[in-house]
Formats: sequence, C-alpha cells, structure tokens
Amino acid sequence: MAQRKNSSVPIVGLDIGTTKVSVVVGESDPGGEIEIIGVGNHPSHGLKRGVVVNIDKTVDSIQNAVEKAEQMSGHLIKEVIVGIAGGHIKGMNGHGMVTLREKEVTPKDIERVIESANALLIPAEREIIHAIPQDYTVDRESGINDPVGIHGLKLEADVHIVTGDVTAARNIIKCIEMSGMTSVDMVIEQIASSEAVLTQDEREIGVAMIDFGGGTCDIAVFINGSIKYTESITLGGDHLDRDIAFGLSVPLPEARKLKENHGMATANQNGLIMSDEKVEVKTASGHEPKNVFKRDLTTIIQLRMEEIFTLIQKEFSKHGFIGLLPAGVVLTGGSSKMREMTTLAEQVLDMPVRIGIPRDVNGLTEIITDPIYSTGVGLVKYASLNKGPAVTAGGLTQKNVFRRMKGWFNEFF
Ligand SMILES: Nc1ncnc2c1ncn2[C@@H]1O[C@H](COP(=O)(O)OP(=O)(O)OP(=O)(O)O)[C@@H](O)[C@H]1O
Ligand SMILES: [Mg+2]
Repeated sequence: MAQRKNSSVPIVGLDIGTTKVSVVVGESDPGGEIEIIGVGNHPSHGLKRGVVVNIDKTVDSIQNAVEKAEQMSGHLIKEVIVGIAGGHIKGMNGHGMVTLREKEVTPKDIERVIESANALLIPAEREIIHAIPQDYTVDRESGINDPVGIHGLKLEADVHIVTGDVTAARNIIKCIEMSGMTSVDMVIEQIASSEAVLTQDEREIGVAMIDFGGGTCDIAVFINGSIKYTESITLGGDHLDRDIAFGLSVPLPEARKLKENHGMATANQNGLIMSDEKVEVKTASGHEPKNVFKRDLTTIIQLRMEEIFTLIQKEFSKHGFIGLLPAGVVLTGGSSKMREMTTLAEQVLDMPVRIGIPRDVNGLTEIITDPIYSTGVGLVKYASLNKGPAVTAGGLTQKNVFRRMKGWFNEFF
C-alpha cells in the first residue's frame, strides 16, 4: 500500500458508476485552487441503472480503484465523498417560513427556515440528501441571496430538496465501510458533475446539465444561479449496447466496442451516412467474424438516442423550462463522447448543446479532462467549496441537513 508523502489530508471523490468506479484525489491550496494529484479507475460490475445490486462485486471494484489512486497520489485513502444516483433520486421545490426572534436574520434562522421547508414535504419512506436554498425573502423583500444581518420580522426561503431511497444510500455506505473507508458526505451525481463542468455564467443565465453515463442520465437545471430541478432517467450507454447486440446479433462486449469505435448518434448531417461501409465484428467463440453495415449501427443508436432526448425534452416542457435555458444544455458522462452527439441533441432538444469536461482544476488535467471524470472531479470540487458554513442561496449544502444525514448514516452501522 502507498505511503503518505505529506501530512495534508486529501479530498477524495468516489464515483461508483454503472460501468466504472473512479476515485479522484485532490488537494486544495490556500488560494482555493484545486490540484488533482491522483486518479484510479476500475470496471464496475455490481450496479444496475446507477444502484448497487451486488455488494461484493462493488467492494472489489472500489478497492481496486482506490489502490490505483493511492499509488498515484501517494496518499492513504481513509475518507471519501461519494456520489449517489439512480431513478430513486427525486428533486422537489419547497418553501419554508419562520418568524425572526432577534428582529434580524441570524445563521440559526437560516437553519430553521430550511428545516421548516423540509418538514412540509418529505414523504416518510424517503430521506433528505440535499436541502439547497434557492433564495430568501425577508418580510416583503424577495430575491435575497444572503440575508444574514437583514432586519425584519419574518424570513422565508425557497429550497430545492433532494430525497433518495434509504436502502440505496445504505448499500453505498456499506460498500465504503467494507472497503475500509468512511464516507464523509454523499452528493447526488448530477450536482457533482454540474460542479465540474458548468460555468457560473451558465448557471446565472439558465442551463441544463445532463450526465449521460452507462446506466443513467442524471439531469440538473440551474436558473438565476440556483438549482431548480434534479432528475435521473434510468437509460444510458448500456441500453445502446443491448440494442446493438440484439439488432446486429453480436456479443454484448463487441456491441460496446462497435459503439465506442464506430458509433454515431445521427447520420443525417453533411452526408455522413456511409452507404456501404462495413466493420468486421467478432461473434461467439468458434464462429466466423461477421461484417456489419455502419449505417445499421447508426440507425440503432439514433433510435435510442432520440428516445432518450425526447423523454428529456418532455420533462423540460412539463416543468416549464422551455425558453428559460438560454445557455442550453451541457452534456457530459462517457456517452457524451459519441460522435455527432451534439448534432442529435440539438435537433431533438431544440437548444444549443455543448460537451462538458471538468474545468477549473489543476494537476492531472491531461487525464481528467474527459467527460467520464465529471462526477469524480465534481465531488472533489464540491467538497472543497462546501467546507465552510454554506447558507447563502445557491450554495450547494446546508450544514444542519448534513449533520442529520450523518445521524442517518450512524443509525445503520
Ligand atoms: N467514444 C464513445 N462513444 C460512445 N459511448 C462511449 C464512448 N466512450 C465511452 N462511452 C460509453 O460511456 C458509458 C460510460 O460512461 P460513464 O463512465 O460516464 O458511466 P458511469 O459513470 O459508469 O455510469 P452511470 O453514471 O450511468 O452510473 C458506457 O456506456 C460507454 O460505452
Ligand atoms: Mg456516472
């Protein structure tokens, strides 16, 4: 095992994805800059659609990825900030209201007003993962970002509340503990990835971030600098692999290779359709390789991609976001590496689309400027940004909720 080179405690993001576990080790310098000093990746076999379904396989992947990250960073990893995803993650907007005891807003009032928003909305079988203030109102003055010190009689807050299934969270924590580590915070993956790939300007203007991974599409919408919506659609790159394997009668691992090496999200652009171009593919052992038409591969991919982006477009429309996202969509995650992805996404979503890679970090940039690292790097950035009291609107954590979450962890172990 690697020896610790220095006494500083690293910030470690653990992204337990459907196709890979990745560990990102960072250090934050006094100027607030983050340096990525180690990365470890290992294939993941214990998850389905973003949720742990096999503890032993997941622990094995985590341990392998952690060992690689320890070797690269020279740190022993004991504590991690972990991501959580899956169809069970639900975001909703709540409203809280309290009277001011001191006739001016104190940090304690902010905790109370967020608590009061939580109390109104949470169904009994779910647990809060985040309660993120969007903006505050003191008496009749609304749109306040940081109300501490403002005089008034009544404080109100709009709060984005994210809840998740207790069992799914509990299994993640169990895997981390069985790997010999502790989890110091749990963050939904779309918030982590947003932290890595979005600019502050985009969040102010109005933007949707979509992390298109192997098992899920995790979505976050920001308007006026605040998070307004979080959703997870349980469709991802794995579904494309299955469609290709079925449609072209090839083994699943070959289908994935075909997709990654030759796949295109659409062939409609600039005469890109290759009428007769073929690719040779291995078939089941003992059988001859076969040739498949690239145009057939593209047709299969395009159908599934259109389905996924149409679903997302309907969600945006249902929630009234059409016209509120001038900065468009930022696509990240491994599946965003598909050729012609932005072309197809722009056609279906009818807004500008760019591919997001982790930004504003130093260190191993040649490795981590890849959409597969958005969640891992984002977890490190999130942890580094949320060290102090975070009670202003748009801040992505709220300490009293986190304390409660710690209690929730302890209930089980
Ligand atoms: N060049 C490429 N073209 C198309 N797809 C790609 C390419 N490279 C990787 N992928 C796909 O990206 C997916 C993995 O992405 P990612 O690492 O973001 O997923 P994950 O984090 O493991 O899963 P999830 O977040 O959904 O739980 C796989 O389906 C993989 O085949
Ligand atoms: Mg992922």
